Amino acid sequence: MEKLVITGGKRLNGDVFISGAKNAAVAIIPAAIMSGGVCIIENLPNIEDVASLRSTLNKMGAVCEYVDKHTLKIDSSGNINTSAVFEEVRKIRASYYLLGALLGKYKKAEVAMPGGCNFGTRPIDLHLKGFKLLGAKVNVSNGIVTLSAEHLKGAQIYMDQVSVGATINIMLAASMAEGTTIIENAAKEPHVVDTANFLNMMGANIKGAGTDIIRIRGVKELHGAEYTIIPDQIEAGTYMIAAAMAGGDVTVRNIIPKHMDSLTAKLAEMGVEIEKNDDSIRVISSGQLEGANIKTMSYPGFPTDLQPQMTALLSGCHGISVVTENVWDNRYQYVDELRQLGARITVESRVAMIQGVERLKGAKVSATDLRAGAAMVVAGLSAEGVTEIDNIKYIDRGYEDIEEKLSNIGADIKRVNED
Ligand code: UD1
Repeated sequence: MEKLVITGGKRLNGDVFISGAKNAAVAIIPAAIMSGGVCIIENLPNIEDVASLRSTLNKMGAVCEYVDKHTLKIDSSGNINTSAVFEEVRKIRASYYLLGALLGKYKKAEVAMPGGCNFGTRPIDLHLKGFKLLGAKVNVSNGIVTLSAEHLKGAQIYMDQVSVGATINIMLAASMAEGTTIIENAAKEPHVVDTANFLNMMGANIKGAGTDIIRIRGVKELHGAEYTIIPDQIEAGTYMIAAAMAGGDVTVRNIIPKHMDSLTAKLAEMGVEIEKNDDSIRVISSGQLEGANIKTMSYPGFPTDLQPQMTALLSGCHGISVVTENVWDNRYQYVDELRQLGARITVESRVAMIQGVERLKGAKVSATDLRAGAAMVVAGLSAEGVTEIDNIKYIDRGYEDIEEKLSNIGADIKRVNED
């Protein structure tokens, strides 16, 4: 089994190049099978979730090959099997996008219920409600979702709750429905916009992505396209938080600074010096920061996917900080691990109260999910002594070459194979 071993206390200095956005990639790859042609997707992150989706598409009959480390060529002109019920599909949460893509293009889909990180109830009722409103019959049994429709018809769909997954999934199916679909209270995340842009490149007619009302005029056919995925806002945020906590002078490059506004505002409030440029942000930190209060919200609010890393940072800041998790109902499982490192945190329901300590101390900890694993890395980089993180398969799901990127800016981090 592989572990990450970090000797903390090194200041971080230099440039980190950010990969393509995981959450855009995992929507855009399934969307490509709607083209019935050849799509070239560039700037894909080289991570496990992308590899699992590639293997899934190949098993379904698309020909999905790497052109280079970050580019996939997806040819879906052959016969596509609309049933995806094998193991890889259960491994990643985002395989639910196969539902919308297959329903839109083939008017039927059979997909195993998604897996992924376990931080609370992760229902897909809003996705299924949207499909039903578009005219699909929905059946869920034995962990498999089956959809079918004679025709899909555009509809007005109000989302009870802002959901990234449901917004994208409905957008996928509605792209090839008859007539116009209006999604109200839509998610505004950058990857929603990126998926809409990709669909439009394939010939779809989607307007308003990035606002809370999205209008989709269905088209009969889509075609192949070439597309470059946006940079990963959460990966960028993780390195910015790491630099803030360990102290140093780090520039995260190849990003869209606007996507980072909620984080840069918070870091500045805590005493970090932030310098924004066209496609990079420089983070200068003494490592001695003031605590702050965070409330996670859908975009443009503070992202829940940076909550664990931020809690790690706040564990080493002056004073008391309060973190309120408004998106997921059980996203503090990692707090026990931070306590192993000496953090003083109490959790009640969705609220974590953090009493900053002078310095965390290295220990053996576990990555309980993807972003929780990133939080352990952030904490380990500034902790005194050695931190060993196991269960790093979660980290590999979403971070490309994490130890290489961190070593390049001066961290002492190694991947060790215990076997
Ligand atoms: C996506 C991200 C995930 C991030 C989350 C919130 C991907 C692949 N994953 O997940 O990293 O943490 O957005 O930014 O993009 N909900 C329902 N019913 C549904 C769907 C969602 O009640 O049918 C609830 C969820 O339980 C949660 C909230 O809505 O409380 C937000 O979930 P959602 O935005 O759908 O998250 P995902 O798309 O699964």
